Amino acid sequence: MHNAERFSQNIEISDQAKRYINDFELDAEALKDKKILDIGCGDEAQFIEFCLENNIDGIVGVDLRPPVSQELAAKVKGHYVVGQVDNLPFKPEQFDMVLMRSVINPDTELDVNKVVGEAISSLKVNGKLEIYPIWREKPMFEKINNVLKRLNNEEYSIDWQEKDALHAGDQELHKDLLIITRKGIVQ
Ligand SMILES: C[S@@+](CC[C@H](N)C(=O)[O-])C[C@H]1O[C@@H](n2cnc3c(N)ncnc32)[C@H](O)[C@@H]1O
Repeated sequence: MHNAERFSQNIEISDQAKRYINDFELDAEALKDKKILDIGCGDEAQFIEFCLENNIDGIVGVDLRPPVSQELAAKVKGHYVVGQVDNLPFKPEQFDMVLMRSVINPDTELDVNKVVGEAISSLKVNGKLEIYPIWREKPMFEKINNVLKRLNNEEYSIDWQEKDALHAGDQELHKDLLIITRKGIVQ
């Protein structure tokens, strides 16, 4: 059973929130006492709404666009910030979990080094950054890998999970989940 199906037995859950839960393998109970940042949350902010409906009050999203309606803006007030992913409007080291879903894509014009660097800086010790999807065969993998190579591996651990594979002509394409954990430096 997918993670999202466990929740949907009791409550109605939006498609966007389902995708977050399944792609990042989230457990709503484990998120309750966490500070969570959703980078490039989308102006419909459905994952933020899901969190607020489930007493996950430590959620905050950032997007360059404001919420799509005034009604939504009122609902997510205090949990949605208009800002840039490559210059996050938060102090560093504030979050236990940072999610970035479908923000950097293979054709992105964003500076991947800067965006991932900002996301990493926002992690507390023991915090996790999850980025999905990374297309393994596309140039974005190379860009991400260049960022990862520069991380101090005493301070960060890096895990990859293969989430999806699809055929495009004679090519097989993989969509991977990247998890970066800030371990902190053991003295
Ligand atoms: C494809 S949507 C993904 C939305 C959501 N994360 C999801 O998975 O459903 C990409 C989002 O990234 C936001 N975005 C793109 N570039 C950005 C930037 N430079 N600063 C802030 N947000 C940005 C867009 O406004 C859009 O809402």
